[in-house]
Amino acid sequence: MNLSGRRVVLGVSGGIAAYKVCTLARRLTEAGAAVDVVLTTAAAEFIRPLTFEALTKRPVATSLWERGRALAHIDLARDPDLIVVAPATAHLLARAAQGLADDLLTSLLLAATTPVLVVPGMNDEMFAHAATQQNIQTLRERGWTVVGPAIGPLAEGPSDRPGRMVEPEEILAHVERALRAPGSPLSGRNVLVTAGATREHLDPVRVITNPASGRQGYALAEAAFARGAEVTLVSGPSTLPTPTGVELVRVETTEQLLSAVERLLPQADVLVMAVAPADFRPAEPGAAKRPRSEGPLSVKLEPTPDVLERTLAKRRSGCVAVGFALEIGDGIERARQKLEAKQLDFIVLNRADEPGSGFEQETNRVTLVSPDDARELPMQPKREVAEQVLDEVERRL
Ligand SMILES: Cc1cc2nc3c(=O)[nH]c(=O)nc-3n(C[C@H](O)[C@H](O)[C@H](O)COP(=O)(O)O)c2cc1C
Repeated sequence: MNLSGRRVVLGVSGGIAAYKVCTLARRLTEAGAAVDVVLTTAAAEFIRPLTFEALTKRPVATSLWERGRALAHIDLARDPDLIVVAPATAHLLARAAQGLADDLLTSLLLAATTPVLVVPGMNDEMFAHAATQQNIQTLRERGWTVVGPAIGPLAEGPSDRPGRMVEPEEILAHVERALRAPGSPLSGRNVLVTAGATREHLDPVRVITNPASGRQGYALAEAAFARGAEVTLVSGPSTLPTPTGVELVRVETTEQLLSAVERLLPQADVLVMAVAPADFRPAEPGAAKRPRSEGPLSVKLEPTPDVLERTLAKRRSGCVAVGFALEIGDGIERARQKLEAKQLDFIVLNRADEPGSGFEQETNRVTLVSPDDARELPMQPKREVAEQVLDEVERRL
Protein backbone atom coordinates (compact mmCIF):
# COMPACT_ATOMS: atom_id res chain seq x y z
CA MET A 1 0.00 0.00 0.00
CA ASN A 2 1.42 3.37 -0.96
CA LEU A 3 -0.10 6.37 0.79
CA SER A 4 2.81 8.75 0.32
CA GLY A 5 1.76 12.33 -0.12
CA ARG A 6 -1.55 11.67 1.68
CA ARG A 7 -2.51 13.34 4.95
CA VAL A 8 -4.83 11.60 7.37
CA VAL A 9 -6.25 13.04 10.58
CA LEU A 10 -6.75 10.17 13.01
CA GLY A 11 -9.20 11.07 15.78
CA VAL A 12 -9.16 8.74 18.76
CA SER A 13 -11.94 8.80 21.34
CA GLY A 14 -12.04 7.14 24.75
CA GLY A 15 -12.90 3.51 24.05
CA ILE A 16 -10.98 0.47 25.19
CA ALA A 17 -10.13 -0.35 21.55
CA ALA A 18 -7.88 2.74 21.47
CA TYR A 19 -4.89 0.44 22.04
CA LYS A 20 -5.52 -1.23 18.67
CA VAL A 21 -5.49 2.12 16.92
CA CYS A 22 -1.76 2.41 17.74
CA THR A 23 -1.28 -0.36 15.16
CA LEU A 24 -3.42 1.56 12.68
CA ALA A 25 -1.35 4.74 13.21
CA ARG A 26 1.82 2.75 12.67
CA ARG A 27 0.62 0.99 9.52
CA LEU A 28 -0.64 4.26 7.98
CA THR A 29 2.71 5.89 8.73
CA GLU A 30 4.61 2.93 7.26
CA ALA A 31 2.47 3.23 4.12
CA GLY A 32 3.80 6.80 3.73
CA ALA A 33 0.83 8.84 5.01
CA ALA A 34 1.34 11.90 7.22
CA VAL A 35 -0.83 11.04 10.22
CA ASP A 36 -2.02 13.77 12.59
CA VAL A 37 -3.47 12.18 15.71
CA VAL A 38 -6.06 14.00 17.80
CA LEU A 39 -7.02 12.47 21.15
CA THR A 40 -10.06 13.29 23.23
CA THR A 41 -9.44 13.79 26.95
CA ALA A 42 -10.92 10.33 27.58
CA ALA A 43 -8.72 8.73 24.90
CA ALA A 44 -5.63 10.17 26.61
CA GLU A 45 -6.69 8.23 29.73
CA PHE A 46 -6.25 5.01 27.73
CA ILE A 47 -3.18 5.82 25.58
CA ARG A 48 -0.64 8.55 26.21
CA PRO A 49 -0.12 11.04 23.37
CA LEU A 50 3.59 10.17 23.46
CA THR A 51 2.83 6.70 22.07
CA PHE A 52 1.16 8.16 18.98
CA GLU A 53 3.85 10.82 18.66
CA ALA A 54 6.54 8.12 18.52
CA LEU A 55 4.55 6.03 16.04
CA THR A 56 3.64 8.87 13.67
CA LYS A 57 6.71 11.07 14.23
CA ARG A 58 4.39 14.07 14.33
CA PRO A 59 2.99 16.18 17.17
CA VAL A 60 -0.21 14.87 18.73
CA ALA A 61 -3.01 17.25 19.65
CA THR A 62 -5.29 16.77 22.63
CA SER A 63 -6.79 20.13 23.54
CA LEU A 64 -8.36 23.27 22.14
CA TRP A 65 -6.58 25.24 24.83
CA GLU A 66 -2.96 24.30 24.22
CA ARG A 67 -0.62 27.32 24.33
CA GLY A 68 1.11 27.97 21.00
CA ARG A 69 -1.55 26.09 18.98
CA ALA A 70 -4.43 28.50 19.27
CA LEU A 71 -6.20 27.50 16.06
CA ALA A 72 -5.23 23.83 15.95
CA HIS A 73 -8.80 22.73 15.13
CA ILE A 74 -8.83 24.91 12.01
CA ASP A 75 -5.27 24.09 10.99
CA LEU A 76 -5.85 20.37 11.33
CA ALA A 77 -9.14 20.52 9.45
CA ARG A 78 -7.46 22.26 6.52
CA ASP A 79 -7.22 19.86 3.59
CA PRO A 80 -6.50 16.45 5.02
CA ASP A 81 -7.33 13.77 2.45
CA LEU A 82 -9.35 11.88 5.03
CA ILE A 83 -10.46 12.05 8.67
CA VAL A 84 -10.70 8.71 10.47
CA VAL A 85 -12.24 8.41 13.93
CA ALA A 86 -11.31 5.14 15.62
CA PRO A 87 -12.52 4.02 17.98
CA ALA A 88 -15.61 6.20 17.83
CA THR A 89 -17.30 6.03 21.23
CA ALA A 90 -21.05 6.30 21.72
CA HIS A 91 -20.35 9.70 23.26
CA LEU A 92 -18.30 10.90 20.27
CA LEU A 93 -20.98 9.74 17.82
CA ALA A 94 -23.63 11.58 19.86
CA ARG A 95 -21.61 14.80 19.97
CA ALA A 96 -20.81 14.65 16.26
CA ALA A 97 -24.43 13.94 15.31
CA GLN A 98 -25.55 16.96 17.37
CA GLY A 99 -22.89 19.19 15.84
CA LEU A 100 -21.31 19.88 19.24
CA ALA A 101 -17.86 21.42 19.29
CA ASP A 102 -16.80 21.13 22.91
CA ASP A 103 -13.30 19.76 22.35
CA LEU A 104 -10.60 19.70 19.68
CA LEU A 105 -11.81 16.58 17.86
CA THR A 106 -15.47 17.60 17.59
CA SER A 107 -14.50 21.18 16.64
CA LEU A 108 -12.31 19.99 13.80
CA LEU A 109 -15.02 17.56 12.66
CA LEU A 110 -17.32 20.58 12.30
CA ALA A 111 -14.72 22.70 10.54
CA ALA A 112 -13.60 20.00 8.06
CA THR A 113 -15.01 19.53 4.58
CA THR A 114 -13.10 16.29 3.82
CA PRO A 115 -14.58 12.77 3.85
CA VAL A 116 -14.95 11.20 7.30
CA LEU A 117 -14.70 7.51 8.14
CA VAL A 118 -15.88 6.49 11.63
CA VAL A 119 -15.19 3.15 13.26
CA PRO A 120 -17.49 2.63 16.25
CA GLY A 121 -16.38 0.40 19.12
CA MET A 122 -18.42 -0.06 22.29
CA ASN A 123 -20.42 -2.36 24.53
CA ASP A 124 -23.12 -4.16 22.52
CA GLU A 125 -25.99 -2.65 24.58
CA MET A 126 -24.57 0.85 23.99
CA PHE A 127 -24.42 0.16 20.27
CA ALA A 128 -27.95 -1.28 20.13
CA HIS A 129 -29.39 1.71 22.05
CA ALA A 130 -31.85 3.73 19.98
CA ALA A 131 -29.85 6.92 20.62
CA THR A 132 -26.66 5.43 19.17
CA GLN A 133 -28.51 3.91 16.22
CA GLN A 134 -30.14 7.24 15.47
CA ASN A 135 -26.83 9.10 15.72
CA ILE A 136 -25.18 6.66 13.30
CA GLN A 137 -28.08 7.04 10.91
CA THR A 138 -27.70 10.85 11.06
CA LEU A 139 -23.96 10.65 10.36
CA ARG A 140 -24.49 8.26 7.43
CA GLU A 141 -27.09 10.61 5.96
CA ARG A 142 -24.51 13.36 6.29
CA GLY A 143 -22.20 11.33 4.04
CA TRP A 144 -19.91 9.82 6.65
CA THR A 145 -18.73 6.27 6.09
CA VAL A 146 -19.35 3.97 9.06
CA VAL A 147 -17.19 0.85 9.25
CA GLY A 148 -18.39 -1.94 11.56
CA PRO A 149 -18.78 -2.66 14.38
CA ALA A 150 -18.10 -6.38 14.26
CA ILE A 151 -19.64 -9.15 16.31
CA GLY A 152 -17.15 -10.72 18.70
CA PRO A 153 -15.72 -10.78 22.23
CA LEU A 154 -15.73 -7.46 24.11
CA ALA A 155 -13.35 -6.41 26.88
CA GLU A 156 -16.14 -7.21 29.36
CA GLY A 157 -16.77 -10.72 27.99
CA PRO A 158 -18.24 -12.72 25.11
CA SER A 159 -20.90 -11.17 22.90
CA ASP A 160 -22.96 -12.27 19.92
CA ARG A 161 -24.08 -8.80 18.89
CA PRO A 162 -22.32 -5.92 17.11
CA GLY A 163 -20.14 -3.66 19.26
CA ARG A 164 -16.51 -4.75 18.87
CA MET A 165 -14.37 -2.40 16.80
CA VAL A 166 -13.20 -3.99 13.53
CA GLU A 167 -9.53 -4.95 13.39
CA PRO A 168 -6.83 -2.46 12.30
CA GLU A 169 -6.11 -4.34 9.04
CA GLU A 170 -9.77 -4.03 8.06
CA ILE A 171 -9.80 -0.29 8.92
CA LEU A 172 -6.67 0.09 6.83
CA ALA A 173 -8.38 -1.51 3.81
CA HIS A 174 -11.27 0.97 4.17
CA VAL A 175 -8.84 3.89 4.54
CA GLU A 176 -7.02 2.84 1.38
CA ARG A 177 -10.35 2.60 -0.45
CA ALA A 178 -11.51 6.02 0.79
CA LEU A 179 -8.24 7.55 -0.42
CA ARG A 180 -7.92 5.76 -3.76
CA ALA A 181 -11.50 5.30 -4.99
CA PRO A 182 -12.13 8.95 -5.98
CA GLY A 183 -9.43 8.79 -8.68
CA SER A 184 -10.18 5.32 -10.01
CA PRO A 185 -12.28 4.34 -13.05
CA LEU A 186 -13.11 1.15 -11.15
CA SER A 187 -14.89 3.09 -8.41
CA GLY A 188 -18.51 1.96 -8.11
CA ARG A 189 -17.99 -0.70 -10.81
CA ASN A 190 -19.08 -4.26 -10.33
CA VAL A 191 -16.06 -6.56 -10.39
CA LEU A 192 -16.38 -10.34 -10.45
CA VAL A 193 -13.23 -12.28 -9.56
CA THR A 194 -12.90 -16.06 -9.50
CA ALA A 195 -10.10 -17.68 -7.50
CA GLY A 196 -8.59 -20.89 -6.21
CA ALA A 197 -9.09 -24.38 -7.58
CA THR A 198 -12.28 -26.34 -8.00
CA ARG A 199 -12.35 -30.01 -7.07
CA GLU A 200 -14.23 -33.07 -8.27
CA HIS A 201 -15.13 -36.03 -6.09
CA LEU A 202 -13.86 -39.53 -6.87
CA ASP A 203 -15.93 -40.71 -3.93
CA PRO A 204 -17.28 -39.00 -0.77
CA VAL A 205 -13.76 -38.41 0.64
CA ARG A 206 -11.34 -38.27 -2.30
CA VAL A 207 -10.98 -35.49 -4.84
CA ILE A 208 -9.22 -34.54 -8.05
CA THR A 209 -7.95 -30.96 -7.95
CA ASN A 210 -4.87 -28.81 -8.62
CA PRO A 211 -2.55 -26.85 -6.31
CA ALA A 212 -3.95 -23.34 -7.01
CA SER A 213 -4.09 -21.59 -3.61
CA GLY A 214 -6.32 -18.65 -4.56
CA ARG A 215 -3.67 -16.09 -3.55
CA GLN A 216 -3.60 -14.28 -6.90
CA GLY A 217 -7.40 -14.07 -7.16
CA TYR A 218 -7.77 -12.95 -3.53
CA ALA A 219 -5.11 -10.27 -4.14
CA LEU A 220 -7.08 -9.10 -7.19
CA ALA A 221 -10.28 -8.88 -5.14
CA GLU A 222 -8.45 -6.88 -2.43
CA ALA A 223 -6.93 -4.51 -4.98
CA ALA A 224 -10.29 -3.96 -6.71
CA PHE A 225 -11.91 -3.13 -3.34
CA ALA A 226 -9.09 -0.63 -2.67
CA ARG A 227 -10.03 1.14 -5.93
CA GLY A 228 -13.64 1.51 -4.87
CA ALA A 229 -15.18 -1.41 -6.78
CA GLU A 230 -18.08 -3.53 -5.56
CA VAL A 231 -16.36 -6.89 -5.55
CA THR A 232 -17.74 -10.42 -5.64
CA LEU A 233 -15.21 -13.20 -5.22
CA VAL A 234 -16.19 -16.69 -6.33
CA SER A 235 -13.72 -19.02 -4.67
CA GLY A 236 -12.98 -22.70 -4.71
CA PRO A 237 -12.21 -24.25 -1.30
CA SER A 238 -9.55 -22.09 0.39
CA THR A 239 -8.33 -21.27 3.88
CA LEU A 240 -7.30 -17.72 2.95
CA PRO A 241 -9.06 -14.99 4.94
CA THR A 242 -11.92 -13.28 3.09
CA PRO A 243 -10.68 -9.89 1.86
CA THR A 244 -12.27 -6.90 3.60
CA GLY A 245 -15.46 -5.59 2.01
CA VAL A 246 -15.64 -8.37 -0.57
CA GLU A 247 -18.70 -10.60 -1.02
CA LEU A 248 -17.50 -14.19 -0.99
CA VAL A 249 -19.33 -16.96 -2.87
CA ARG A 250 -17.92 -20.39 -2.13
CA VAL A 251 -18.03 -23.16 -4.72
CA GLU A 252 -16.53 -26.63 -4.81
CA THR A 253 -16.95 -28.16 -8.26
CA THR A 254 -16.52 -26.72 -11.75
CA GLU A 255 -20.29 -27.16 -12.29
CA GLN A 256 -20.95 -24.97 -9.22
CA LEU A 257 -18.42 -22.43 -10.51
CA LEU A 258 -20.30 -22.37 -13.81
CA SER A 259 -23.65 -21.66 -12.14
CA ALA A 260 -22.15 -18.92 -9.94
CA VAL A 261 -20.51 -17.17 -12.91
CA GLU A 262 -23.69 -17.59 -15.00
CA ARG A 263 -25.69 -15.89 -12.24
CA LEU A 264 -23.23 -13.07 -11.50
CA LEU A 265 -21.71 -12.21 -14.87
CA PRO A 266 -24.69 -10.28 -16.32
CA GLN A 267 -24.22 -7.60 -13.59
CA ALA A 268 -20.42 -7.40 -13.91
CA ASP A 269 -18.46 -4.54 -15.48
CA VAL A 270 -15.27 -6.58 -15.12
CA LEU A 271 -14.65 -10.31 -15.01
CA VAL A 272 -11.29 -11.64 -13.85
CA MET A 273 -11.08 -15.43 -14.19
CA ALA A 274 -8.13 -16.28 -11.94
CA VAL A 275 -9.64 -19.61 -10.89
CA ALA A 276 -7.95 -22.86 -11.93
CA PRO A 277 -10.91 -25.17 -12.53
CA ALA A 278 -10.55 -28.93 -12.43
CA ASP A 279 -10.78 -29.77 -16.15
CA PHE A 280 -11.81 -33.38 -15.62
CA ARG A 281 -14.17 -35.20 -13.29
CA PRO A 282 -14.93 -38.87 -12.71
CA ALA A 283 -17.66 -40.00 -15.10
CA GLU A 284 -19.12 -42.16 -12.32
CA PRO A 285 -18.07 -41.01 -8.85
CA GLY A 286 -18.07 -43.77 -6.23
CA ALA A 287 -20.96 -43.70 -3.77
CA ALA A 288 -18.81 -45.04 -0.92
CA LYS A 289 -15.17 -44.86 0.12
CA ARG A 290 -13.46 -47.74 -1.63
CA PRO A 291 -10.89 -49.53 0.55
CA ARG A 292 -7.32 -49.90 -0.78
CA SER A 293 -7.53 -53.65 -0.17
CA GLU A 294 -9.85 -53.98 -3.18
CA GLY A 295 -6.82 -53.41 -5.43
CA PRO A 296 -6.20 -51.11 -8.39
CA LEU A 297 -8.84 -48.55 -9.22
CA SER A 298 -9.53 -47.43 -12.77
CA VAL A 299 -11.44 -44.20 -13.16
CA LYS A 300 -12.88 -42.84 -16.37
CA LEU A 301 -12.63 -39.06 -16.45
CA GLU A 302 -14.84 -36.78 -18.49
CA PRO A 303 -14.19 -33.11 -19.23
CA THR A 304 -15.91 -30.57 -16.98
CA PRO A 305 -17.81 -27.68 -18.61
CA ASP A 306 -15.74 -24.85 -20.11
CA VAL A 307 -16.94 -21.99 -17.91
CA LEU A 308 -15.77 -19.14 -20.16
CA GLU A 309 -17.18 -20.72 -23.29
CA ARG A 310 -20.53 -21.29 -21.60
CA THR A 311 -20.87 -17.87 -19.97
CA LEU A 312 -19.08 -15.12 -21.88
CA ALA A 313 -22.03 -14.53 -24.20
CA LYS A 314 -23.94 -13.39 -21.10
CA ARG A 315 -21.61 -10.49 -20.37
CA ARG A 316 -23.01 -7.01 -20.75
CA SER A 317 -21.62 -4.81 -23.47
CA GLY A 318 -18.45 -3.03 -22.39
CA CYS A 319 -17.62 -5.67 -19.78
CA VAL A 320 -13.84 -6.18 -19.63
CA ALA A 321 -13.01 -9.90 -19.42
CA VAL A 322 -9.61 -11.08 -18.28
CA GLY A 323 -8.49 -14.70 -18.46
CA PHE A 324 -5.58 -16.51 -16.83
CA ALA A 325 -3.46 -19.15 -18.49
CA LEU A 326 -0.87 -21.36 -16.90
CA GLU A 327 1.77 -22.66 -19.26
CA ILE A 328 5.00 -24.56 -19.04
CA GLY A 329 7.59 -22.83 -21.24
CA ASP A 330 6.76 -20.03 -23.63
CA GLY A 331 2.96 -20.01 -23.93
CA ILE A 332 2.35 -16.70 -25.64
CA GLU A 333 1.02 -18.24 -28.86
CA ARG A 334 -1.30 -20.59 -26.97
CA ALA A 335 -2.46 -17.66 -24.84
CA ARG A 336 -3.24 -15.70 -28.02
CA GLN A 337 -5.27 -18.62 -29.38
CA LYS A 338 -7.24 -18.77 -26.11
CA LEU A 339 -7.67 -14.99 -26.22
CA GLU A 340 -9.25 -15.20 -29.65
CA ALA A 341 -11.28 -18.35 -29.07
CA LYS A 342 -12.80 -16.98 -25.86
CA GLN A 343 -13.09 -13.32 -26.92
CA LEU A 344 -11.19 -12.07 -23.88
CA ASP A 345 -9.70 -8.58 -23.59
CA PHE A 346 -6.38 -9.89 -22.34
CA ILE A 347 -4.79 -12.90 -20.69
CA VAL A 348 -2.52 -13.03 -17.68
CA LEU A 349 0.00 -15.68 -18.58
CA ASN A 350 1.57 -17.44 -15.59
CA ARG A 351 4.77 -19.40 -15.76
CA ALA A 352 4.29 -22.65 -13.81
CA ASP A 353 7.88 -23.82 -14.25
CA GLU A 354 9.67 -20.84 -12.75
CA PRO A 355 10.77 -20.82 -9.09
CA GLY A 356 8.78 -18.22 -7.12
CA SER A 357 5.98 -18.04 -9.67
CA GLY A 358 2.58 -19.70 -10.05
CA PHE A 359 0.88 -22.19 -7.70
CA GLU A 360 1.03 -21.63 -3.94
CA GLN A 361 3.68 -18.88 -4.16
CA GLU A 362 3.52 -15.40 -2.60
CA THR A 363 5.07 -13.94 -5.75
CA ASN A 364 4.31 -14.26 -9.43
CA ARG A 365 5.91 -13.45 -12.76
CA VAL A 366 3.33 -12.93 -15.47
CA THR A 367 3.02 -11.66 -19.01
CA LEU A 368 -0.02 -9.62 -20.01
CA VAL A 369 -0.99 -10.93 -23.44
CA SER A 370 -3.37 -9.02 -25.69
CA PRO A 371 -3.95 -9.48 -29.44
CA ASP A 372 -1.23 -7.00 -30.37
CA ASP A 373 1.02 -6.92 -27.32
CA ALA A 374 2.81 -9.12 -24.76
CA ARG A 375 4.07 -7.19 -21.74
CA GLU A 376 6.32 -9.07 -19.35
CA LEU A 377 6.07 -7.95 -15.73
CA PRO A 378 8.86 -8.55 -13.21
CA MET A 379 8.69 -11.15 -10.42
CA GLN A 380 6.72 -9.39 -7.68
CA PRO A 381 4.25 -10.01 -4.84
CA LYS A 382 0.84 -11.15 -6.06
CA ARG A 383 -0.77 -7.94 -4.75
CA GLU A 384 1.55 -5.92 -7.02
CA VAL A 385 0.67 -8.17 -9.97
CA ALA A 386 -3.00 -7.52 -9.12
CA GLU A 387 -2.45 -3.74 -9.19
CA GLN A 388 -0.88 -3.93 -12.64
CA VAL A 389 -3.61 -6.22 -13.99
CA LEU A 390 -6.18 -3.68 -12.73
CA ASP A 391 -4.25 -0.79 -14.31
CA GLU A 392 -4.66 -2.64 -17.60
CA VAL A 393 -8.37 -3.22 -16.89
CA GLU A 394 -8.84 0.50 -16.13
CA ARG A 395 -7.22 1.43 -19.45
CA ARG A 396 -9.85 -0.70 -21.19
CA LEU A 397 -12.95 0.34 -19.24
C1 LIG B 1 -12.51 1.25 31.03
C2 LIG B 1 -13.47 1.98 30.14
C3 LIG B 1 -13.70 1.52 28.87
C4 LIG B 1 -14.59 2.19 28.02
N1 LIG B 1 -14.78 1.72 26.77
C5 LIG B 1 -15.65 2.37 25.96
C6 LIG B 1 -15.87 1.89 24.65
O1 LIG B 1 -15.24 0.92 24.19
N2 LIG B 1 -16.75 2.54 23.86
C7 LIG B 1 -17.45 3.63 24.32
O2 LIG B 1 -18.27 4.15 23.56
N3 LIG B 1 -17.23 4.11 25.56
C8 LIG B 1 -16.37 3.51 26.39
N4 LIG B 1 -16.14 4.00 27.64
C9 LIG B 1 -16.85 5.20 28.07
C10 LIG B 1 -16.20 6.45 27.50
O3 LIG B 1 -14.84 6.52 27.88
C11 LIG B 1 -16.95 7.69 28.00
O4 LIG B 1 -18.24 7.69 27.44
C12 LIG B 1 -16.23 8.95 27.63
O5 LIG B 1 -17.01 10.06 28.04
C13 LIG B 1 -15.98 9.07 26.15
O6 LIG B 1 -15.44 10.32 25.86
P1 LIG B 1 -14.99 10.73 24.39
O7 LIG B 1 -16.07 10.29 23.47
O8 LIG B 1 -14.88 12.22 24.47
O9 LIG B 1 -13.69 10.11 24.13
C14 LIG B 1 -15.25 3.35 28.50
C15 LIG B 1 -14.98 3.82 29.77
C16 LIG B 1 -14.11 3.16 30.59
C17 LIG B 1 -13.85 3.70 31.95
